[in-house]
Amino acid sequence: MGKKDYSQVQDFVFVCTGDDCKPDSKSLQKAFKDSLERSGFKKSVKIIKTKCTGRCKEAPVAIIKGEWLGELRPSDADRLVRKHFLSTDKQ
Ligand code: FES
Repeated sequence: MGKKDYSQVQDFVFVCTGDDCKPDSKSLQKAFKDSLERSGFKKSVKIIKTKCTGRCKEAPVAIIKGEWLGELRPSDADRLVRKHFLSTDKQ
């Protein structure tokens, strides 16, 4: 297997895979992956799996642009991708 090319990566979605998040983590990763691909971010936004991020009570958890997002469902992915990567409103 060759080296992966991350030269176009500009941002990340961190998805927790710790014990409390694990049951929902795979479906969440898939939802983010599909949403990023549909939105044209397949190469520029990378999904990173993390260990426990310390907010287990809010599981499943992801972090995007420094914002902790908890109690996520796969159906949240499109909204979050739009909000964090497609929004022209740079607050
Ligand atoms: S297991 Fe995900 S925040 Fe702890």
